[in-house]
Amino acid sequence: MLNPRLQEILSAAGKVVVAGKDGPVGKHNGVLHVGVDLGTAYTVVVALNEDMIPVAGAYRFAQVVRDGVVVDFHGAIQLVRELKTLVEARLEVKLTSAASAYPPGVALAEVRATGHVLEGAGLECSKLVDEATAAATLLQIDKGVVLDVGGGTTKLAVVRNGKVIHTADEPTGGTHFSLVIAGALHIPFMDAEKKKTDRRHQAELFMIIRPVMEKVGTIVARHIAGYKVDTIYLVGGTARFPGIEGVIEEVTGIKTIIPGDPLFVTPVGIAMHN
Ligand SMILES: Nc1ncnc2c1ncn2[C@@H]1O[C@H](COP(=O)(O)OP(=O)(O)OP(=O)(O)O)[C@@H](O)[C@H]1O
Ligand SMILES: [Mg+2]
Repeated sequence: MLNPRLQEILSAAGKVVVAGKDGPVGKHNGVLHVGVDLGTAYTVVVALNEDMIPVAGAYRFAQVVRDGVVVDFHGAIQLVRELKTLVEARLEVKLTSAASAYPPGVALAEVRATGHVLEGAGLECSKLVDEATAAATLLQIDKGVVLDVGGGTTKLAVVRNGKVIHTADEPTGGTHFSLVIAGALHIPFMDAEKKKTDRRHQAELFMIIRPVMEKVGTIVARHIAGYKVDTIYLVGGTARFPGIEGVIEEVTGIKTIIPGDPLFVTPVGIAMHN
């Protein structure tokens, strides 16, 4: 059902897009497609080769953008520049242009600010695409719903005959999961964030955050009510939480699948637009 090329791309992304300074190194010759994803939780820079296979990338947890709005302009530029430098060092090339993205529905002025961040970091912004459409570009599905549950928002794209016919986003994402954990356990937000992403604690946290998962399901159900949908493709970092697809499926009544590691689907899809 899931195509092998998609698996190849996501598995390459999992290997070459790294959080620290280390990563596979080797001089790159030829075309590069670069994407910058300014997320609420993670900012990602990823470079693909001419076959759209990820060859290098870097990401970091940072709160420079919230729900598509650049809240720390200089911090965002600094961060993109740092991540770009890491990727350049690995590939021994200069990155000159990149595509970036915004959650569907954000104001044009905010979308422009995203372009300005790239330019401030020394990258020509070749394209700005909405995040749900970017994810759909990589998944290449013919019909269904692409659901990107990120750090700040839940974004969705309804696809029919290979074309995105409806997009939406709403402010519920992984940050809300962490806030609920922080409140329930009386711990600081960053401790909750760490616990949530630690496999050893996820089973015990499931019941605490299940209501937020249900809320995501309700949001999706509301937005797709007028469309005939038989499959939801769940991506975004929050889709890494074990069991979330079952809750979305239960609430919406629609088969929900996670197509490989969901974290880098949107960043890679963005890069495909460069
Ligand atoms: N293993 C994991 N288990 C659960 N949640 C995870 C895991 N890894 C990452 N996350 C969560 O995924 C979220 C980040 O995902 P992603 O990078 O897709 O969002 P973003 O692009 O930064 O945000 P947005 O698109 O909403 O602006 C964070 O809330 C993070 O805590
Ligand atoms: Mg995102």
